[in-house]
Amino acid sequence: MPDVVHENPAPETDSTLPLRIIIVDDEAAIRESLQLLLEMEGFEVATAPDGAKGLKALEESVFDLVLLDLALPGQSGFEILQTIRARHANLPVIMITAYGTVQNVVEAMHFGANNFIQKPWDNEKLLADIRGAIGQHRVEIENIHLKRALKQRYSFENIIGKSEPMQAVLDLVGQVAPSRSTILVQGESGTGKELIAKAIHSHSPRRDKPFVPVHTGAVPSDLLESTLFGHVKGAFTSAIASKKGLFEIANGGTLFLDEIGTMALDTQAKLLRVLQDRKFMLVGGVQELQVDVRIVAATNADLRQAVREGRFREDLFYRLNVITIDLPPLRNRKEDIPLLVAHCLKRFCEENQLPLRTISSETMRALIDHSWPGNVRELENVIERCVVLSTDQTIPRELLPDHLTGRSYEATLLERNPDASLFEIVDQFEKHIITDRLEHCNWNQTEAAEAFRIPLSTLNQKIKRLNIEIRKKLKD
Ligand SMILES: Nc1ncnc2c1ncn2[C@@H]1O[C@H](COP(=O)(O)OP(=O)(O)OP(=O)(O)O)[C@@H](O)[C@H]1O
Ligand SMILES: [Mg+2]
Repeated sequence: MPDVVHENPAPETDSTLPLRIIIVDDEAAIRESLQLLLEMEGFEVATAPDGAKGLKALEESVFDLVLLDLALPGQSGFEILQTIRARHANLPVIMITAYGTVQNVVEAMHFGANNFIQKPWDNEKLLADIRGAIGQHRVEIENIHLKRALKQRYSFENIIGKSEPMQAVLDLVGQVAPSRSTILVQGESGTGKELIAKAIHSHSPRRDKPFVPVHTGAVPSDLLESTLFGHVKGAFTSAIASKKGLFEIANGGTLFLDEIGTMALDTQAKLLRVLQDRKFMLVGGVQELQVDVRIVAATNADLRQAVREGRFREDLFYRLNVITIDLPPLRNRKEDIPLLVAHCLKRFCEENQLPLRTISSETMRALIDHSWPGNVRELENVIERCVVLSTDQTIPRELLPDHLTGRSYEATLLERNPDASLFEIVDQFEKHIITDRLEHCNWNQTEAAEAFRIPLSTLNQKIKRLNIEIRKKLKD
């Protein structure tokens, strides 16, 4: 098990060396007076006249704290702060400004500043705040080391989440991953169920064996059995050769049963048998096969309710529900939004070979205020779209979809098309809601048609007539 933690590891600071502070401010007089003050207090000080030079210094050397001016030439202090947070998640940053409005303070905190100081500053208070932030940082580092020693913690590099509920989830994942227990992951669509299932596998002793996902909802029920258990040649008309099932393929590893709530009742009975006896039979076969497979199942439906309604076997529910991991919806852990935004910006800029983009304060505010019914997946889509569409380095609020900025789409439509006929406006509106729903369903037309309660053929006719471009294929 890797002995690392899921915070970015902070550089180890040797307590015999002087603490190092970098001052990023465009006014030479401010830099000099702050430098003098801090050097007299025994700090080692570097200075930078703008954000770009400050970021370069941070890349080239290790600092214990950044004093960052808000109004800088070129990129603003908030933009620089976002880049610092993306690269050095835990480095203490104190913002300095002449404009200490409540709004600025709130925004600085949103972007992850540790503190906020107004010019002209009080030397004693400034020094106390600096010592406080560095001390706090040291305590955090020590805590991380302590926790590491006391209780093994785990590296979840690709899972973002500092909020209390996500930390609880990650702790539970770390605890249960090494065992063989069956795990049920519950959560709304887009909360990261598959990501957690993969983390469970990669932190288990099975990590070098296959992780096999099966989207039980996407496979027609008659095919699901042969997909899971395999079949022998001639088991049914189209079985022209025998085929291994996913249980056999996953032997020694983990089988991820996604959308388990949609599984047909007779398949549920067979699954229960494998879970109980670890044995199964190929479709059409006579011999039993023994497998060693760990099951992780996921659902976004309420399985208890499905049991009450007779759509899900109670005995299977209890078999699966040995350990349950409940993923909180994004609206209940808003403090993770800035981190997820930074993570997505970095990822999509790299994927599109663009320089790292930042977002304006108003954009961040709108993102934090949104309720995210599609959770992290919806956030990813919004950021990807902004990265691709933005012509500026800083993403403006206007690039966000209308439902995020609180402007009704109808109002925008009418305003943009003053001469359009009613039919044209209705068409555009229809196109908008269908595209939105498709995006929400990960471009799965069947799922979107079901959600709209219209036949798939009707949806497809509309897609064609309204010229809707299917932008992404379903994953897997
Ligand atoms: N905590 C997180 N940190 C980083 N990325 C995340 C996090 N949670 C989810 N994601 C990303 O969001 C997207 C959706 O996650 P995932 O597919 O695991 O969700 P899901 O719960 O299985 O969704 P669905 O119910 O729609 O299948 C993925 O691209 C995933 O990488
Ligand atoms: Mg999923």
